[in-house]
Amino acid sequence: MRKADWSRRMVQENVLTLNDLIWPIFLIDGENRREQIPAMPGVERVTVDIALRDAENAARLGITAIAPFPNIEHSMRDDTGSQISNPDNVVNRFTRQIKKEVPNIGIITDAALDPFTSHGHDGILENGLIVNDLSVARIVSGALAQAEAGADIIAPSDMMDGRVGAIREALDAHGFQDVAIMSYAAKFSSAFYGPYREAIGTAGLLKGDKKTYYVDPANSEEAVREAAQDLEEGADMLMVKPGMPYLDVIRRIKDAFGIPTYAYQVSGEYSMIKAAGANGWIDEERAMMESLLAFKRAGCDGILTYFAPRVAEILSGR
Ligand code: PBG
Repeated sequence: MRKADWSRRMVQENVLTLNDLIWPIFLIDGENRREQIPAMPGVERVTVDIALRDAENAARLGITAIAPFPNIEHSMRDDTGSQISNPDNVVNRFTRQIKKEVPNIGIITDAALDPFTSHGHDGILENGLIVNDLSVARIVSGALAQAEAGADIIAPSDMMDGRVGAIREALDAHGFQDVAIMSYAAKFSSAFYGPYREAIGTAGLLKGDKKTYYVDPANSEEAVREAAQDLEEGADMLMVKPGMPYLDVIRRIKDAFGIPTYAYQVSGEYSMIKAAGANGWIDEERAMMESLLAFKRAGCDGILTYFAPRVAEILSGR
């Protein structure tokens, strides 16, 4: 059955489509400005005006949703990440505009404190320790500001206990029953986030690591328990992050719950493929397509990937 193209296609089990593509982007304040991110060749931080044009193009290509991440001035970052609640922060301004100008693409906002804190952690610290419930309260207020701006899906990526339930309750109480929650249910304490931290400007700020609140890479039972907990609290969709090193976790979660399951092919995964490709060590395009097909085989309903625009061009024959 492998002999000819037609017969290979006839027995092909999985297929990557435009419906699988979710595009994470990086936003900065200002106007008409693009900044290179050295650790992520081909990815830029852009101002809202440029991001709107990029989003228009993404919608035209058939990408389902965009996930914006901010890199704000360091002087605006504080101990508690208070800027997440600012209705006019760069993510909320982008969301408001895009809902007006490009209504046919989904917006998934990251309800996390790390781009807004002076220490780069996803929670509020007291004596060097994360205070769970205080952090949840701040994350909830940030999620509400995102929903007010028009976010379609709130995606908490902090791994605090109880945040999905708290966000669901607050959304419902404020008339946002239709706003969905995509939980970063199983987010691992990973080295693969390195380039992202450069992208949002936390690389030099982060003290210590995130081991006290992200899942240990050694554990998969625990990842399934985390997913169960988030579902019980009202998550509509689940995400596993990083992606490629955790395909087994995706499969377990998909089999256990059968609900829409996503993976985040994170910055380090992207940069590895780009770097090896640039050196001529692998065929970048083939590696990119193969890596995304692997997510489908593992059971994903969609993938957050920095490759989304390129893949969308290929899939739509451009
Ligand atoms: C944290 C967050 C991270 C990413 C997105 N949101 C990881 C982290 O810094 O701990 C990583 C995304 C990537 O690496 O592409 N809330």
